[in-house]
Amino acid sequence: MIELTNCTKTFGEGTPNMVVALAGLTLTIPDGQFLVVIGANGSGKSTLLNGIAGTFTPDTGSITVDGVDVTNQPAYRRARYIGRVFQNPFAGTAPTMTVAENLRLAALRGLPKRPLIGLSRAFRSELQHRVAGLGMGLEDRMETPIGLLSGGQRQALTLLMATFRPPAILLLDEHTAALDPGSATKVMELTKQIVNEKKLTTLMVTHDMEQALNVGNRLLMMERGAIAMDLAEQEKSQLTIAELIARFAGGRGSVVSGQ
Ligand SMILES: Nc1ncnc2c1ncn2[C@@H]1O[C@H](COP(=O)(O)OP(=O)(O)O)[C@@H](O)[C@H]1O
Ligand SMILES: [Mg+2]
Repeated sequence: MIELTNCTKTFGEGTPNMVVALAGLTLTIPDGQFLVVIGANGSGKSTLLNGIAGTFTPDTGSITVDGVDVTNQPAYRRARYIGRVFQNPFAGTAPTMTVAENLRLAALRGLPKRPLIGLSRAFRSELQHRVAGLGMGLEDRMETPIGLLSGGQRQALTLLMATFRPPAILLLDEHTAALDPGSATKVMELTKQIVNEKKLTTLMVTHDMEQALNVGNRLLMMERGAIAMDLAEQEKSQLTIAELIARFAGGRGSVVSGQ
């Protein structure tokens, strides 16, 4: 379970560019919940994910993961239990390293220090098996530098890497937004499959209203660093895209609570 209590984050305090990115945000995410986050540009969605990942420390408030206070824990220590996929398919992988080498790094991440496992035949075949599971034919391209692959292929591999060892939290920040429609659909299908299979606690930011309604089991709308709408699965399932867009456009609409 992840708990954020009264988290605030202000950028550029005391300057004309001051922005309150998180305005006293409180949020509890039970284990196994797949939470979708929507909201206008600048409403604080990425800041919420960055706060959980430890990219920065909130100015006030606290963040706990499974009861452990991680508010001041640096990002590199959280990397052990947090998986992240960003919008940019070029983030998160080393372009000149091969598919196999990138996956090997992901497989070793967070393990206690010990002699590094090389790419033995058995390990290589395990990696290949996992890549075959993506259903993209990439198992035949294990020795290709990852930078030569398409955005969709890279994003599918980044997703596999982020979940290679099931993380306590999976953070997806508009991870299909930069892909062509076919690749976006494929990566979204893989996302649902992996999250369901591994029962991952997941936060996914999207601007796609169809995804917002059809994916996950809770829907949050953020506005000016706060939660403006919080719909449980049942309430979410009764909404239409038109209604959701109306609420989005309506700004400070009715605040609904749920988990
Ligand atoms: N590192 C930063 N420095 C200054 N301002 C920032 C920084 N990160 C985010 N912001 C500002 O905080 C607000 C919220 O940003 P963000 O969380 O990225 O929004 P969203 O992801 O919802 O589009 C925006 O006004 C943005 O410009
Ligand atoms: Mg963002």
